[in-house]
Amino acid sequence: MWIGVLTLLPEILEAGTSGGVFARAVAAGIIDLHVFNPRDFSTDRHRNVDDKTYGGGAGMVMMNAPLTAALVAAQAAAPAGSPVILMSPQGAVFNQQTAVSMVDMPGLILVCGRYEGIDERFVQNYVDMEVSIGDYVLSGGELPALVVMDAIARHLPGTLGNSLSIIDESHLDGMLDYPHYTRPVEYAGDQVPDVLLSGNHTKVNEYRRREALKRTFDRRPELMTGRTFSERDQKLLRESFAAGQNGADENEA
Ligand code: ADE
Repeated sequence: MWIGVLTLLPEILEAGTSGGVFARAVAAGIIDLHVFNPRDFSTDRHRNVDDKTYGGGAGMVMMNAPLTAALVAAQAAAPAGSPVILMSPQGAVFNQQTAVSMVDMPGLILVCGRYEGIDERFVQNYVDMEVSIGDYVLSGGELPALVVMDAIARHLPGTLGNSLSIIDESHLDGMLDYPHYTRPVEYAGDQVPDVLLSGNHTKVNEYRRREALKRTFDRRPELMTGRTFSERDQKLLRESFAAGQNGADENEA
């Protein structure tokens, strides 16, 4: 997937993409990452990219011209139809569904703001979508762009060594993940649940789904509202209630 990022701080992008799953996806050609620095497109003597805000007040605003020139360069290189996405705390909050929907796009052009923000005329004329990674204000869009790219990369075929991981994740179907354990079976007196050692895949799957439902109910009940659950999920939830397990996580009690 072709991804272009407009940023004044390419070093943050470099730091966030030079290791782990994302770096492997770039090395394998699954992600074709390009960085465009508006400063390289600034035509003034000092290579300025920002100026004072009209109307007065603290902080600088990113100027239209260098941003637009960087965008023109990005669009010339991007697959046709790649949306322009601005990282902004004013955007729609990014979630797994947004990540999955972006995987099918021809490419992506991510715009990272800095300073107080960017000239609104750029947003009006060129931005297709504004995305926030949460209700807090960061000093720029680079970390949000990394978050968005990482979440997308996990869904591109070949990115995850074990593609079953992503199938498993999608089977969670909007619910929180179930607990995981590895060796040893007993650690400091704490045991791995017996069912996970049983070798009975049906029972293991039931246990995992029940735990996922239970955790979601306990920690993020709003993720469950307005949804319909299968007969099997309803049965697992009922069992969980009957066992008196809901209402609080055991580890929070
Ligand atoms: N830029 C600054 N804060 C941000 C946020 N929370 N999400 C996306 N972009 C941002």
